[in-house]
Amino acid sequence: MAEYEDKVLHDIDGIKEYDNPLPGWLMAIWWGAIAFGVLYLAFYALRFGERSMESEYRAETQKALASVQAHFDANPLVPPTAAELLAGAADPVVLDRGSGRFAKSCASCHGEKAQGLIGPNLTDDRWIHGGSVEQVFQSIVKGWPAKGMPPWGRAIPPEEISALVSYVRSLQGSAPANAKPAEGDPFPPEPIPGR
Ligand code: HEC
Repeated sequence: MAEYEDKVLHDIDGIKEYDNPLPGWLMAIWWGAIAFGVLYLAFYALRFGERSMESEYRAETQKALASVQAHFDANPLVPPTAAELLAGAADPVVLDRGSGRFAKSCASCHGEKAQGLIGPNLTDDRWIHGGSVEQVFQSIVKGWPAKGMPPWGRAIPPEEISALVSYVRSLQGSAPANAKPAEGDPFPPEPIPGR
């Protein structure tokens, strides 16, 4: 301190003011507070942090969408062919799957044996909306919402819808008890290969 003691700025009644530099710890707080203020402004008032996070989210979303697109490009949603649906009607594994799903989602309206309840009998050879396996597939996927048949395309995975169609086809002519009278136009059942 001695070296500064000559530089007296003011001397009022023996109280001297020296031109000494501020101590290091105080200057550290001073500059630290300024640096904190600048960062605070940038992050909270100007939202630099959020902006960089936002672009990161956007990039990730783009990447996720691209991977979903790539998945569908590699696995296009091709509806099954009539031959595949009919072949399923003679495949015990497919029929097992179809009957399991039918009991869960369809029996409440069409009856346990598809004999018809609120919904029409699915075992006869008359159909309101067409009886080809492809038309039955469409009826199940899109439903007939205005008439009380829900669309199942989103609720049931595609293979299971195919299994349902095969199962429904396998029930043609099963003549269950308490069957609801046939409705719609006649459609002779398509032949099941190997039956
Ligand atoms: C909430 C009741 C309800 C449920 C559940 C339901 N259906 Fe239906 N379904 C109906 C009604 C009602 C119709 C008749 C629609 C019409 O008259 O146009 C129908 C029509 C159909 C038809 C067309 C019949 C024809 O004669 O053209 C098929 C096929 C069918 N349902 C299959 C299914 C399958 C398979 C399931 C299970 C995944 C199912 N339904 C679940 C009520 C239901």
